[in-house]
Amino acid sequence: MNKNILLGVTGGVAIYKVVDVVSRLKKLGYNIKIIMTDSACEFVSPMTFETIGKCDVKTKMFHEGSHKIVEHIDLASWADLFLIAPASANTMAKINHGIADNLLTSCALAYDKKIMFCVSMNTNMLNNPATQKNIRELEEKGHIMVSSNSGLLACNVVGDGRLKEPWEIVEEVEKYFCKKDLTGKKILVTAGGTVERIDPVRYIGNDSSGKMGYSIAKKAYMRGAEVTVISAKTSVECPDGVENIKVESADEMQKEISNRIEKFDYLIMAAAVSDFKVANKRDKKIKKSDNFNTLELKENPDILKSLHKNENQIFIGFAAETNNLIENAKKKLSEKNLDYIVLNDVSKSDIGFNSDYNKVTIIGKEDIFEIEKESKLNIADKILDLIK
Ligand code: C5P
Repeated sequence: MNKNILLGVTGGVAIYKVVDVVSRLKKLGYNIKIIMTDSACEFVSPMTFETIGKCDVKTKMFHEGSHKIVEHIDLASWADLFLIAPASANTMAKINHGIADNLLTSCALAYDKKIMFCVSMNTNMLNNPATQKNIRELEEKGHIMVSSNSGLLACNVVGDGRLKEPWEIVEEVEKYFCKKDLTGKKILVTAGGTVERIDPVRYIGNDSSGKMGYSIAKKAYMRGAEVTVISAKTSVECPDGVENIKVESADEMQKEISNRIEKFDYLIMAAAVSDFKVANKRDKKIKKSDNFNTLELKENPDILKSLHKNENQIFIGFAAETNNLIENAKKKLSEKNLDYIVLNDVSKSDIGFNSDYNKVTIIGKEDIFEIEKESKLNIADKILDLIK
C-alpha cells in the first residue's frame, strides 16, 4: 500500500525546490497532504502545491467551512511520515519547545512518530547557538535532521544552510521507508572498470560506469547492511553511507578484496575487470621516437577464482556476454565457484554499460529467472532479495 506523507512547508526562499520534491514524490506514488505556514504562503501560492501534488493544501487552523473533524489530529494520525521542508529556524524552535500556534506546529505536537526536518536558512541563523541547541535537542528526541548543504545562499553568503537538492530529499524519504532486511549483514561490492596502465598517461580501460555496482551498494546500505565498495574507474559518484576504497588495476582490486574478504558475508562482483594487463608497461610517457610498436599483454588474475570462499559466504558475479549468453554464464557460475551470476546482454545500447537501465537474467545453481528492462536501482533490489 502506498505510504502517506504529510508535508509541512515553512517560509524560506528554498521553497521553490520543495515544489519539485512534491512532484517527485507524487511520481513515486506517495499519497501527499500539505500544510503551509503563513510565511510559506508569502513565497508560493498554495495553488502551486495543490496543482503539482494533486492534493489537499491546508493553511489555517481556524478556516471557514466544516470543523466536524479535528484537522490537526486527523492529519497527524493519517501520516506515515511528517516531512518538513524547508524547515525554518522558527518552526524548529517552536516544535522543540512544544509550541502549537498554527496548523503545522499543532500537527507536529499531535504527531507521535519521527519528524524529518530538511534544514534551510542563512548561515548565521543556522550557526546561532539557539538554533544549534534546538537541532541537537530535536535529534536527541529521535527526530531526523536532513542537514543543509554548503554553497551560495539567497542572501549572497557562501556557507551552510542551502536546502538539500530535491533528489537528495526524496532519497532520504525512500531510505526512511525502505525495509531494513539486511541489517547486520556485511556486503563487499566491486564497481566500475579496471584501468591497466600502458604509461603514466595512457591505459586500457572499458565502458563500465560503475552504476550497477553503486546501485547495489546504495540499496544494500538503505536496507541496513554494512557496505564496503571497491571502486575502479567510474563515471558516477559513490553513494553516501558506504566505505569506498579506490583502486585502479585488477591487481590492486584483487589485493584489496583478498585483504578483507574474510570479514564479509557477501561479495557482489559487479566490476568489469580487465582480463589482460600490459606486460611492457613504461614508467615514463612513451614518445613517438621510442619506437613503441607492440603492446604486450599478460593475463590478469581471475579475482573470483583466486578467492577462498567459506561455507557461509555467498558470492555473486556478473557476466557481460554478447553471444551464447546462458551457456557461457552457466559455465562461469561453476568455474568461478559462484552462488549466482547476473547475466547482462551488452549487445544493446539502451541497457547495460553506462545506461541507468539494465535487463538481466539471474542464474543460480538450480534456478534461473529473468528480469525485464528496469532501472539499475530496482535490479539492485532484486539481486539483494536473493541474499536477504
Ligand atoms: O570472466 P568474466 O570477466 O566474463 O567474468 C565476469 C565476472 O568475473 C565478474 O563478476 C567480474 O567482476 C569477475 N572477474 C574477476 N576477475 C577477472 C575478470 C572478471 O573476478 N580477472
